[in-house]
This record gives sequence, C-alpha cells and structure tokens, in this order.
Amino acid sequence: MHPIFNQNNRKLISLIALILQTTSIVLVLRYSRTRKAEPYISSTAIVASEFLKGLICIILVWFETDCSLNRLIKKLHDEIYGKPHETLKLTIPSGLYAIQNNLLFIALSYLNAATYQVTYQLKILTTALCCVFMLGKKIEKHQWISLCMLALGVAFVTWPSSDEGNKRLSTQTPKSWLQQFIGLGAVLMATLTSGFAGVYFEKILKTGPTSVWVRNIQLAIFGTIFGLVIVYIFDYKAVMEKGFFQGYSTVVWIVIFLQAIGGLIIAAVIKYADNIIKGFATSLSIILSSAVSYFILNDFIPSLFFFIGAMLVITATFLYGWERKVKLIPLNDQKR
Ligand code: C5P
Repeated sequence: MHPIFNQNNRKLISLIALILQTTSIVLVLRYSRTRKAEPYISSTAIVASEFLKGLICIILVWFETDCSLNRLIKKLHDEIYGKPHETLKLTIPSGLYAIQNNLLFIALSYLNAATYQVTYQLKILTTALCCVFMLGKKIEKHQWISLCMLALGVAFVTWPSSDEGNKRLSTQTPKSWLQQFIGLGAVLMATLTSGFAGVYFEKILKTGPTSVWVRNIQLAIFGTIFGLVIVYIFDYKAVMEKGFFQGYSTVVWIVIFLQAIGGLIIAAVIKYADNIIKGFATSLSIILSSAVSYFILNDFIPSLFFFIGAMLVITATFLYGWERKVKLIPLNDQKR
C-alpha cells in the first residue's frame, strides 16, 4: 500500500473529505431551495441514495479483490450471505437511522427551526455518553467542557437571524403546547438514536476483520429495505400517481449522490477516527459553508450570535485535542 494511506493519513483524509462533503451538500441544498421546481418525494430520495451507496461500495470491494469479478462475487457471498448473523447485526443501526429520519421530520413539522436546531445538538453529548458506556472510552474533564461548548456553539451558529426568524414567525401558525411536546419528544429521541446507532456501528467496524465497505453494503441493503417500507407507508399514493422519480432534476441527483458519498465518508471517519471527532468535523463544516455563503454566494449575513457560536466551536475543537503535559522531574532532581 502507498505510504500516503497510512492510518494517520487515512484519518486526516477522511476528516477533510467529511468537512468538504458536509459543506458542499449544505450549499447545494441552499441553491436548490432558491430554484422553482417540481417537488420531489424525499422518502424516495433516501432510498435512491441508500441504493447508490450500496452500488459504490460494491465497486470499492471490487477494487479490494484486485478487480476480479469472481473474487468479488465470492467475497460478497461469503461475507453477506454466508454470515447471516453478522449481516443481521446491521439491522439495528439501519433501522434506527430510518426511524431517526422520520423523527426529525416530525420534529421539524411541530417545532420552530431554532428550537429544533438547538435541541438536536444534544446529540453531541448523547454520542459521547454512548462512547463511554458502549466502548469504554475515557473522556477527560476538559473534553466534557469542550463537548458542551461545541453543542452550545453549533446551537448559536445555526440560530436563525432576526430577519429569517421574523419571516418564519409570520408564515408559521402558532404551535400548541401538545405539538411542541411531541416535537421536542421526537427530536430528543433522535438525539438518542443518533448517538446509539453511530457508536453501535463504530463498535461493529472496530471489533471485526470485515472491511468497512462490506459493512456499508450490509447497512445499505437494510437501509434500502427500510426506506422502501417508509415510501410504501407514507407516499404510496403519490408514487402510484406520478412515479417514483417525480421531480428529480439534476440538482436532486447531485444531492442524492452527495448523500451517498456522505454515508461512505461517515463510515470511513467512524473507522479511522471516531464518532466524537465526526461531531467536530460536521460542526466546523457548518461554519465553513456559512463562510462560503457570505464570501462567494453573498446570500448570508452573519449575526452576532453566529460569531459567538463560531468562536465557541473553534475554541472547543482546540480544547478537545489539548493534552495536559505531565511534567517529568528527573529522578536525580527528585532525590535532591
Ligand atoms: O445526525 P447523525 O450524525 O446521526 O446522522 C448520521 C447520518 O449518516 C444518517 O442519516 C445515516 O443514514 C448516515 N449514515 C450512512 N452510512 C453510515 C453511517 C451513517 O449513510 N455508514
């Protein structure tokens, strides 16, 4: 293997890829919202990106088997069909991610955007708690402080500006306390599934010899199945009327592609770094995409909240990696 792909470099490359992917998907979504187009069904887009993710992973496994079709088929047969117990383990994270996507949808319809964004950042802390309880990871006191700063910082960064807030308030009907309660319950549940599913997947990736791409194929198989069930339950009528791919423009395909690539990058980050570091990378990319929006697209004006949040995120990132240097006193000096 080329020395550039050693463990440390893989970690760095996967993190940079995650920051670029998260930044670009935010920008493409922002751009797609400004265009007038026929709406597409989001549940079908989730299925399409899971399916595409599976296909890309098959190509990657083909490279792993020296581009031999026979060896690829044998590997997939042995690893997926031949080890049903191992394959079935992936129903847990993929089922949880399917539930999570729907919980977030409920949360967004019952809560205002600010409450939703701020509450969802608690996933940084649920992920850390799952790492401690499920992986036995040690998190130092300064790192807990840094994680709280990170969650608070992202909450500030994503807080809508007063202009956006006023626009939202004027178009939104007031939510009853029951709707707010359901919305808050849904987003809190999503923070739990996010932490648990991510760390469960990390445990599977780090405790067995199976390649990360094979694991992702297993995840994509169940993701596609669960996704189709969700399309059937919620959007059967619309699909029957206007088709599965209605409203799929080039931009929608780009979003689907970026989403699929994102799944692969997240898996690589979880494998070569961990779920907590993933939280830092995605938080930093929110700031990066806002900077691109401000300097290049000119469609975003940062508020004071944004600057305070960005400072908190950047400080938290340095604080998390900070290591207290233990002062070693030479033995001779100690005797003196
Ligand atoms: O918000 P959170 O970080 O939990 O979101 C993780 C997202 O990454 C989910 O939407 C999940 O479908 C996706 N994912 C993926 N492939 C993986 C791991 C996560 O597509 N191997």
